[in-house]
Formats: sequence, structure tokens, C-alpha cells
Amino acid sequence: MRQTLINLEESKIREVANAGMGRSDVLAFWFGESDEVTPDFIRQAAIESLQKGETFYSHNLGLPELRAAVAHYMSGLHGDIASNRIAITSGGVNALMLSVQALVDAGDQVVAVTPVWPNLTAQPLILGADLRCFSLKPEGGRWTLDLQALLAQITPKTKLLIVNAPNNPTGWTLERDEQQAILEHCRKTGTWILADEVYERLYYEETPNPAPGRPKPGAPLGGDGRSPSGGIHPCAPSFLDVAAPDDRLVVVHSFSKSFLMTGWRLGWLVMPPSLTQPMGKLVEFNTSCASVFTQRAGIVALQRTDEVTPRVVAHLKHCRDTLVPLLQALPGIEVAPARGGMYAFFRLDGVDDSLAVAKRLVSEAGLGLAPGNAFAPEAQGWLRWCFASKDPARLVQGVDRLASWLHSRA
Ligand SMILES: Cc1ncc(COP(=O)(O)O)c(C=O)c1O
Repeated sequence: MRQTLINLEESKIREVANAGMGRSDVLAFWFGESDEVTPDFIRQAAIESLQKGETFYSHNLGLPELRAAVAHYMSGLHGDIASNRIAITSGGVNALMLSVQALVDAGDQVVAVTPVWPNLTAQPLILGADLRCFSLKPEGGRWTLDLQALLAQITPKTKLLIVNAPNNPTGWTLERDEQQAILEHCRKTGTWILADEVYERLYYEETPNPAPGRPKPGAPLGGDGRSPSGGIHPCAPSFLDVAAPDDRLVVVHSFSKSFLMTGWRLGWLVMPPSLTQPMGKLVEFNTSCASVFTQRAGIVALQRTDEVTPRVVAHLKHCRDTLVPLLQALPGIEVAPARGGMYAFFRLDGVDDSLAVAKRLVSEAGLGLAPGNAFAPEAQGWLRWCFASKDPARLVQGVDRLASWLHSRA
């Protein structure tokens, strides 16, 4: 077995979940997924595909119809994006791994902005990269970027910058001028940017003004910036809004979060056209293709975005606005409302081992949270709460459990 694999840490989120899974008395908020089932019309599309007998391999890069639907959807959000820049993948995590495989040789220097979902830092390590983490800084419960310090860390030796915004777990998002500055710097150093934007639609701030020369961001399917229902769709700032098609930029997306499709394992990549065919080779040697019935469901999800995503986002905002003030009212907790994503990330006074506390919360309070140090050592003392709960009353119940536990400790 490779030493790299032996050295690889297990996910601390899984470690907590394994301690409490299957216990009906535990309120679980440890994983990054909603407890709401995928909408019926999306499930029906998969059923119909199977009934038609679509049980075969597809093209490595995905069904042409799905690639075209993704290109159309992304063009509505970010200006013209051609389908020859799209690859369909078996989930966002597969899209991330393919990107790192495509861009990083063993020994190459990779800079990752942390705290971040641990898969983003594990993948370059699996491939033998020289990983350097650049930390956001906490200020009053909110994590912020020192842009100049990040730029100083990216040199001509840096092969790849990995950045996830809106961020899991902190809720931090990048501003457009920061994306512009990072892009311009990386153009000079020859560094690739791997932007994980799977939470771009789960964004609770004003959608930024269009980048110069771009159509208004936020429309779902091209056109005038308005959805069929007349509303402008919120969308976080994206590197795609500032980059040219042939910039060294790969953007990772997923059906998991904004379409309630975590278990389907469907995602996509946007990349420069010159990378698409080579990426197809990597898809062949990893998964060969995403399953066809899932891709059919993806087409319908994109065509009927308006019936899913705005409702999901409005509900998540309600969940965030239910949970965060309750947490803020508890003694010893520092937390700010996330600008994007589906997590409340909070610091608990006096905690020096998040993993131990997360395990105690499961066994002593029946509350399942993810430990902050799963996302970076500097997030020791923090806990992550996924607020994607179909019934917001579960969040209130969870806070009651946390409050009683804190009280019993005092
Ligand atoms: C930041 C980030 N990127 C990518 C993913 C991958 O999502 P999936 O593989 O379900 O598409 C996740 C899932 O939690 C995530 O938090």
C-alpha cells in the first residue's frame, strides 16, 4: 500500500457521525446535505430513462444534451459558456479529483485556502503534491481573507490554487474585485485556479453587478437576467464572471446542493476548451462516465431550475436566520450569519478539542455537529452546523439541546 494512503487522515466528520449514526435519539446536522428528498419530477426523469432501457455507457464527457443544458444554464449566470468547455462528472468530488489529476504532478506546489471541506486538501496529497495551506482569519465569528498575503504566497512555483467560495464550512465568499486580483496575479505566475463554486446559488447577499462587458448575472437560462417567473436569481460572484475562456481556470459544480441531489452523484466542470479532450481521457480511467439515467434527471433539473433552486435558497435563508440568532444568544458562542452555503460555523469558548466536544455532544446531548478541526487545524475550537433542515423546528430543538449541555457544563 502507498505510504501516502497510510498517512492520509480519516475524515473527522465521519468519525463523529460513526459514533452516532443509527441512533434515533440524535439530531444529526453533521453532513452537508438537506434532509429533503429530490423533487418528484427529477426522480421521474430517471425512472423514465431506466424504463426506456437507457442502461448503457455514455460519452466520457457526458450526454451531449446535458452538456448543452449545462452550457445554457451557466451562460445565463455568467455570460457565454460553450458546451465544449463542459464535462459531466460523477459528483462535485469527482470533478475536483479529475481537476487535480489533470493539473498536478507529484511534488508540484499547491496552495489551498482553508478552512475548507477536507476533500479539497486530501486530493492533492493523494497525488503527492506539496500542499501549502493559506488560512482565512476569524474576526468576530466571521472568516476573512487577507488578499495581499494570499497573493504573496502564490509564486511562479505555485502550480495550482484551490479556492472554495462560497465556502464550506465558514460561509465566506469572494468579492468580484478579489477574484479579479487573484486571476490577474495567477496569470502572471502561470498558476492554475481550481474554483469550487458548488454553493454559488446558495447565496444570501445581493447579486453583484455584472462584470464589465458581461450580461447581468443571475438569470437561469440566458436572456435578460430574469427568470421565467420574473425574479433575478441570486448567484455568488464567480471566477467565470471575470475570466476569459482560455484562462487557466477550472470551475467545479454539482447538482447536489441547489437541486437536492446529493445521492445521485452528478456534477460538472467548466474549463478552457483545450483541456476538455484530455479531461475526457481522465474520466475514462476514473469512472468512464456518469450513469445515463442520472444525466437524464440532470437535464430536467436544469430545465426546471425555477421550480427547485429559488425555493431551496429561500428555505435555507429561513433556516440560517432561525439558527444563527439562537446560537448568538447562547453564552460563549461566536458566530456570524453565512453569506453563502448551508452552514453555521461557530466558536465555542473554552473548547480546545473540537473533535472530543463533537463526540461528547453526540453522546451527552444527542446533537450531531461536525468538528472545526476537520476543516483546518486553525479551526480548532469551532463547530459546523448544517442548517439545511426541512423542518426548522429541528434546528430550534438542537439549540435547546446545546443550551442544556452548555448549562450542565457551567
Ligand atoms: C465545498 C464542496 N465541494 C464539493 C462538494 C461535493 O459535492 P458532491 O460530490 O456531492 O457533488 C461538497 C460537498 O459537501 C462541498 O462541500
